[in-house]
Amino acid sequence: MPKVFITRNIPAIGPDKLRKQSGWEIDQWSKDEVIPRDELLRRVKGADAVLSLLTERIDAEFIEAAGPQLKVVANLAVGFDNFVVPELTKRGVIGTNTPDVLTDTTADLAFALLMATSRMLPQAEKYVKDGHWHTWEPLGFMGQDVHHATLGLLGMGRIGAAMARRGAGFEMKVIYYDAYRRQDLEQQYGYEYRNSIEEVIRESDFVSVHTPLTEETRHLMNAERLAMMKKTAILINSARGPIVDPDALYDALKNGTIWAAGLDVTEPEPVPSDHKLLTLENCLIVPHIASASINTRNNMSELAADNIINVLEGRAPKTPVNKEVVEQKGLK
Ligand code: GLV
Repeated sequence: MPKVFITRNIPAIGPDKLRKQSGWEIDQWSKDEVIPRDELLRRVKGADAVLSLLTERIDAEFIEAAGPQLKVVANLAVGFDNFVVPELTKRGVIGTNTPDVLTDTTADLAFALLMATSRMLPQAEKYVKDGHWHTWEPLGFMGQDVHHATLGLLGMGRIGAAMARRGAGFEMKVIYYDAYRRQDLEQQYGYEYRNSIEEVIRESDFVSVHTPLTEETRHLMNAERLAMMKKTAILINSARGPIVDPDALYDALKNGTIWAAGLDVTEPEPVPSDHKLLTLENCLIVPHIASASINTRNNMSELAADNIINVLEGRAPKTPVNKEVVEQKGLK
């Protein structure tokens, strides 16, 4: 009898679908907080499949705690830096993620951060609520223009491309760097490729990060690169927190090296309530909500469940992260 463990309370559509599989045993940590590691390691014992979150590190210890019957770990996220993929692959365990279903919703939030920081919405809203709005102010809340500004994308994957479309809709000039050049998009939409990260950073009014977190991208936005940004430029990070060095960002925001930052992700995450970045007016931080629309979170939940159902019924999952294991097992 297949056993599935779900590591958190998530939109019910996926868990409900799993519970409808006849004879399957579904266990779930149904709290709205991270499952303690020792509890996780105990509860996954004997699981054939685990539906995990980015808060769970899926490493050798985890896979061994589950046992040799483990077939698939389905992440409820597109990013899977919480997976030690070689450990999964070595043991013949399939890992899956939730790409595509969250692309536009994530780009919407990244663009919302761009709009909010450039036009100082959090500061302006606080000003009104604090009772300071007494007159129309010719010098009040003068922000940066979005339209016709240059949007620089570090990464032109699915979410980067969705951000580019939003920028184009605001008549922005879109430039990008990615190790994988997208000449198709350049021809179709007029986006411009730059030969290096630094060229993008120097030229942009908005630098938006859309790369996975890897050893190469950890602290990609460090003091040196932040110093290359225009003084009027804004940094947006909706990818992963550690891509931006938080100490360097604090200094850059505090010293006026850059104008503002909008972050959906932080290092560490969650950001502690006494963190120095929270003392800065020009740093807008939201709690990793880029994919948080009702539709998208439902779709993520369903896709993660479908990936599990496919594997446990002997078919290929829709969105594997280690295709070689799917091929080795001959799943179609
Ligand atoms: C969320 O951060 C995701 O990777 O889906």
